[in-house]
Amino acid sequence: MKALFVRAAPRPNGVTSLVGDLFLRGMRRGGAEILDFDMSAKNVADCRGCFACSAGFGRRGVCAIRDDMAEALDFLDGADALVCLTPVYFYSMSAQMKRFFDRCFPFVRGYRFDPESGRMLNETGFLKKRKKFVAISVASGRLDDVFDALSRTYRMVADAMGFEFAADIARGESAYFAMRELGSVRVRRVLSAFEASGEIFARAGKIPADRLEAMRMPLSRGRESFAKNARVFWQLRRNGTPFESFSMVSDPRILLREMCATLDPSRAPERADFKFVFPDKGWACLVSVRSGECSFVESADAGARADVAVTADSEDWAGVMAARRDVSALMRAGRLKVEGDLSLFAAMKKIFGLGGDRRVGGV
Ligand SMILES: Cc1cc2nc3c(=O)[nH]c(=O)nc-3n(C[C@H](O)[C@H](O)[C@H](O)COP(=O)(O)O)c2cc1C
Repeated sequence: MKALFVRAAPRPNGVTSLVGDLFLRGMRRGGAEILDFDMSAKNVADCRGCFACSAGFGRRGVCAIRDDMAEALDFLDGADALVCLTPVYFYSMSAQMKRFFDRCFPFVRGYRFDPESGRMLNETGFLKKRKKFVAISVASGRLDDVFDALSRTYRMVADAMGFEFAADIARGESAYFAMRELGSVRVRRVLSAFEASGEIFARAGKIPADRLEAMRMPLSRGRESFAKNARVFWQLRRNGTPFESFSMVSDPRILLREMCATLDPSRAPERADFKFVFPDKGWACLVSVRSGECSFVESADAGARADVAVTADSEDWAGVMAARRDVSALMRAGRLKVEGDLSLFAAMKKIFGLGGDRRVGGV
């Protein structure tokens, strides 16, 4: 497969690039020949709407603007696929992505009536017709309606350009990817689904439904939980805390609540109670595992019975969870106390999928 991979994410280390790089890596592994075209790095001017490219009767018009776009157009002409990568900006594609499509106008050669759909479509002059089209879009919002307008636009663009819409990959909740320090099982599943999907697409020209589902998998536990975490993000932002990493969160209750969501049922015991006491704040929390499910009590009784009881200052425990602090060193210094079943404590990393793959990153 010969594919043009268009990047239109202004933030080079953002989540769009993170998932896009994985998809691209998968495509390469699947044997695709790729032109990796980054709109932010290339010199591509706005379309001037001069219609110079509409002149003449050739298969493809010539753009009046001489810049790097010629390289992308030449490659796209003979390509089997177009992969477009953009963050969602105001319910739409980024300006860079829009600029890319506008500059594809030299391929538009008028209108034609499509009897199958009963619609007027663009007559296009591509050397290779029926290109497979994959859209990868990343937003901070939850899935819901965040992608509606963009998905519709992409469908119409694909229709108009005679592309075959192979996959519309909408990835919401982008801020959750910054929580990789928690090694969230779900984040890792999503990331590996991007890589696997890229490979399958390169080999088969399509992506199976279960992979699409895996890439779109919700990371928050419902709207309320999402809204609660979003408030924390924005608060951190307003305080000038870098948005890049959730490891800046120093309230261990937030991290424990998220830890609950990363429970790996295949590794969890049938039943276990973990108590966390934070003397500096006067807080006590309880994490309870029952038959593969996890529940979190934010204000528990400090004297409640538990299989494991951890006592530490809130900053220290948040540091442990975000892999900034070392458990053994804190224990040796007498700043972290663990009582009860020590082997269960040691197994927490596995039970909750903590301390995940640190090679995957970029945010
Ligand atoms: C100008 C601008 C507009 C945005 N508009 C939306 C939006 O309409 N809906 C949304 O869910 N997120 C919106 N976002 C958030 C981004 O989609 C989100 O931060 C995404 O992760 C950005 O991609 P990146 O991580 O690759 O930079 C907006 C961000 C910016 C900078």
